[in-house]
Amino acid sequence: MKRRCAVVEIMKAIAYNTYGNPDVLEFGDQPMPKVGPGMVLVKVKAAAVNPVDWKIMAGSLDAVMDLQFPAIPGWDVAGVVESVGIDARQFQPGDEIIAYGRKDYVHGGSFAEYIALPERLLARKPASLGWNESAGLPLAGLTAYQVLNRLGLKSGETVLIHGGSGGVGSLGIQIAVARGASVIATASEKNHEFLRSLGAEPVAYGDGLAERVRSLRPNGVDVVADFVGGNLEATLAVLAEGGRHASIADSEVEEHGGDWMWVNPVGDDLQELADLAYSRKMRVEVAEVFPLEKVADAFRSNMEGHTRGKIVIAIDQDS
Ligand SMILES: NC(=O)c1ccc[n+]([C@@H]2O[C@H](COP(=O)([O-])OP(=O)(O)OC[C@H]3O[C@@H](n4cnc5c(N)ncnc54)[C@H](OP(=O)(O)O)[C@@H]3O)[C@@H](O)[C@H]2O)c1
Repeated sequence: MKRRCAVVEIMKAIAYNTYGNPDVLEFGDQPMPKVGPGMVLVKVKAAAVNPVDWKIMAGSLDAVMDLQFPAIPGWDVAGVVESVGIDARQFQPGDEIIAYGRKDYVHGGSFAEYIALPERLLARKPASLGWNESAGLPLAGLTAYQVLNRLGLKSGETVLIHGGSGGVGSLGIQIAVARGASVIATASEKNHEFLRSLGAEPVAYGDGLAERVRSLRPNGVDVVADFVGGNLEATLAVLAEGGRHASIADSEVEEHGGDWMWVNPVGDDLQELADLAYSRKMRVEVAEVFPLEKVADAFRSNMEGHTRGKIVIAIDQDS
């Protein structure tokens, strides 16, 4: 069995050498990642953009996240296993995988031709999704999946999802619907038909949100999942007696009985989600696709705050 890719020693990647805005990103040659014990080398077919990528690049997470320059950004990946390291036993060269590739420090990310990943982060790519859609599933989907698990969302309950049209929210709606929950989700008017197509009742965010939700559910909702931040007042105003809530973007919820959560890179959870995506024919909405050289433009687009679904970087999909 092939254990190491010895042929290619340099690869193309996007990297930055200093914190900053998208102007710090440079396209060029980087060394091929080394593939240690228990790791696999993945040929990247597609990588997805998440807000955390440009927040890390801006230095906003410097207090909590180690980073080594030059840093190749990107945590979401869909690709093909090229080779495996010593004692990596679960995956073989040729396997089609997805991963939320968050490692112990930021350095070798997925906006590159190749990425080395610990096997424990990998799941098998759902056959129902193409490369671009698959790349959009891991980070955003796992976030929604783990939040709804933590909240114990059950069939027959109503959940309000703040931020239904973003990457996390659009997958969260589908996961909640798959559980048999009734879903109300917020977005601007232009995205209301999109929310309906995913199975949610849309409501506009902003002033009067709590009243709009109460008009749909006078007794309140059982669960609130906040995938945007800045909604605590509305959350508390719409929760039914004994209701549960969590946020991925607002630590203040902890002072009001909620959970403030960070997504955990667990391959087994991702496999459950990938299987669910396959069996329930879940959609990953791809808003825009950029080539590897244009990651800066992809970041600028996501930074506007109105991405519907996911922005994807497609890499060498013809070979
Ligand atoms: N804690 C964690 O583990 C974790 C994990 C993933 C993400 N996050 C954070 O969670 C946030 C969302 O992530 P994401 O990947 O879903 O981002 P995203 O895809 O970039 O979100 C864009 C979406 O946000 C919607 N939006 C903007 N303002 C809104 C508001 N006030 N109310 C409702 N919707 C609004 C937009 O809808 P319209 O165009 O209709 O306005 C757009 O569809 C980001 O801050 C991200 O950093 C945290």
